[in-house]
Amino acid sequence: MKILFVTPELAPWSKAGGLGDATVALGKALAARGHEVRAVTPLYGSVPGRAQMGTLIESLKVGVHGDARKAACRIRTQPVSPNFEAWFVEHDDFYGAREIYPAREDAGERAAFYARAALDACLATNWIPDIVHGHDWTAGLVPVLLNTTLKATALGAARSVLTIHNLQHQGLYPKRIMAYLGLPAFLWSPEELECLGSVNFLKGGILHAAKVITVSPTYAQEILTPAFGYGLDDVVRRRASALRGILNGVDRDEWNPADDAHIAAPFSAQQPAGKAVCKAALLRELGLAPGLEVPLIGVVSRLYEQKGLDLAGRALPPFLREGKLQFVLLGSGDAGLEKEFLRMAADFPAHCAVRIGYDNGLAHRIEAGADFFLMPSRFEPCGLNQMYSMAYGTLPIVRSTGGLADTVSGWNGKRKGTGIVFEHADQAGIAWALSQALELYRQPASLKAVQKAAMTAQFSWEKAAEEHLECYVN
Ligand code: ADP
Ligand code: GLC
Repeated sequence: MKILFVTPELAPWSKAGGLGDATVALGKALAARGHEVRAVTPLYGSVPGRAQMGTLIESLKVGVHGDARKAACRIRTQPVSPNFEAWFVEHDDFYGAREIYPAREDAGERAAFYARAALDACLATNWIPDIVHGHDWTAGLVPVLLNTTLKATALGAARSVLTIHNLQHQGLYPKRIMAYLGLPAFLWSPEELECLGSVNFLKGGILHAAKVITVSPTYAQEILTPAFGYGLDDVVRRRASALRGILNGVDRDEWNPADDAHIAAPFSAQQPAGKAVCKAALLRELGLAPGLEVPLIGVVSRLYEQKGLDLAGRALPPFLREGKLQFVLLGSGDAGLEKEFLRMAADFPAHCAVRIGYDNGLAHRIEAGADFFLMPSRFEPCGLNQMYSMAYGTLPIVRSTGGLADTVSGWNGKRKGTGIVFEHADQAGIAWALSQALELYRQPASLKAVQKAAMTAQFSWEKAAEEHLECYVN
């Protein structure tokens, strides 16, 4: 099959969160099965290696109805893996800044242009995909274009699939986007794209894609309910028969403690000794007290409400004050939360380290060197870090929601389980889970058994690719 991905993130060229990891890994797994995969993505100012990229189309005229001076882009190419190419949409006015999701007045045009450019690039090169697979709200209008404006073109027969990686972000932009893309007037209705007086990109995608995928079976159930639907649960319910939950996986080329250039010593389930070396090196790197014999709890995360870290910020100080654990956080986002965690690090310098920013190497070293990894998410479509943690024998402490519930099985007080699972998204829930972690840490035989079970759990992109292929044809 020929498979087109339309995705705003593609690691390592661009990544704001797990979406970039997921699209590149799924693309590689599909290509490895002999399918021809192209991922179209914007060429942001932050993309490394742009000067070395090839040029596929010098000047592509894109079918939008705005400022004529802004209607063309260049398409650059970059091989990803055998059978898998990235096509970058180069348009400096729209994408030349470093940020992936900037708040700007023309953010709607910026995303709409990209959706149309992805499809026009296929038409211009006569590379006609069987499957057009969009990812998240940025690609939401792709299935809409295929069903309407582009229905009569060679792309009209392509099957469209949309993956919801996160239903919270929907892309609501002014009505003028309808004219910009030349969309038919009937789409401006509450039954269609309209939502609170705006065009809702994700809603359009959910309604018009042949299949709607989300990134875990539990999240697929959750988004049918008002509590998780962010106002679109009724729309998702309308498409319930086309909805499918497929778990993400772990890209073992990137996340493998036996072969990881970022960490102090290699280790594996069979030869776990290197993990202690990684912990000692991490404590040293962070300037935390060595040799305390207490567990080190790690966090690597975007700092937003979704992730529940405000609750962790309140639950942790009593444990730190009593010296019962050490804690490291790497992340950025909400300015208030950043400040709160920095204050915590200043209050407990031997026990708590906080690094604000984005640092892939340190993320690997935290996964390798910590004993536990905390993800108290209020909701989590899939989550990748809990799976990466398990691969590194770093036991995830997770709230029972979405993909976290589907990937971590709670410690049973004996030798069964792969992590700590708690129910309630509140301070008491997290405090209970931390006490459980301390309890497990005090039982070396159980700890070893749970670590081994976590390290040998399989979350493969091969399996995810198989499930996607089923969705592509059925
Ligand atoms: P989400 O996509 O909701 O942020 P995921 O768990 O799916 O959550 O993926 C997060 C990804 O982003 C992981 O690969 C994680 O290591 C990475 N990440 C998040 N914040 C940082 C950071 N500050 N530095 C390095 N990597 C980060
Ligand atoms: C989103 C979700 C996260 C998921 C990732 C990749 O960013 O928040 O749970 O793992 O997409 O699918």
